[in-house]
Amino acid sequence: NLRVVTLDGPAGVGKTTLAKRVAQELSIAYLDTGAMFRIFGWKFGEAAPTMTEEELEAHIAQYTFSLSGFGFDSVLSVNGTPVGDEIRTEEVAALASSVAKLPVVRTALKRVQREISTNTSLVAEGRDMGTVVFPSAKYKFFLDATAEERGARRFKQLQELGQPADLELIISQIKERDKQDRTRTIAPLIPAEDAHIIDTTELDIDGVFTAIMQFFAD
Ligand code: C5P
Repeated sequence: NLRVVTLDGPAGVGKTTLAKRVAQELSIAYLDTGAMFRIFGWKFGEAAPTMTEEELEAHIAQYTFSLSGFGFDSVLSVNGTPVGDEIRTEEVAALASSVAKLPVVRTALKRVQREISTNTSLVAEGRDMGTVVFPSAKYKFFLDATAEERGARRFKQLQELGQPADLELIISQIKERDKQDRTRTIAPLIPAEDAHIIDTTELDIDGVFTAIMQFFAD
């Protein structure tokens, strides 16, 4: 009895942390769909705007994704190699967001994401999981918070890592990516009609986790 839980929302809202925790709690796999767009952004994002659909399809066809493990130990691999930290930069995120506007890319990844879900129950994290990829999922969540709050959280994370951080710059990058994601014509970032919307501005991770898990209490 396979099940799909969708977790969507804007950049920096805490989706990844929560999706992993929910997957762990439910003993099912965690699927990071943003990582798929990031891989494409990283591999051919710079050239993508000038490519024909055929060229894009040829690039896309070179990558095979697979998911193994569950909860915190879920591993997404591309061509057999686990996805690493090289895609976790703001530059790659911006390239991901730009390839994410291309219909050929979205269609291809939608197919891959659905295919993966036929083999395993999972928590799917992304932007359009509840609206486009898994519209009939039983459990749908949409997390939101102001750009300022998300920027402040990211700033704190970087500070804790001892990395240089500029709060104003971070907030403006978040707003820029929000704008790209919310205003694109294909699969824009919006909550599904039947999603549970959780405003996390005033909640910490535990608070959001509790709010989500309430829906699973039998
Ligand atoms: O979630 P993450 O920040 O890794 O996603 C990177 C970018 O990939 C997003 O800004 C968005 O443009 C795109 N994306 C998407 N649909 C998804 C997941 C990510 O368009 N399901």
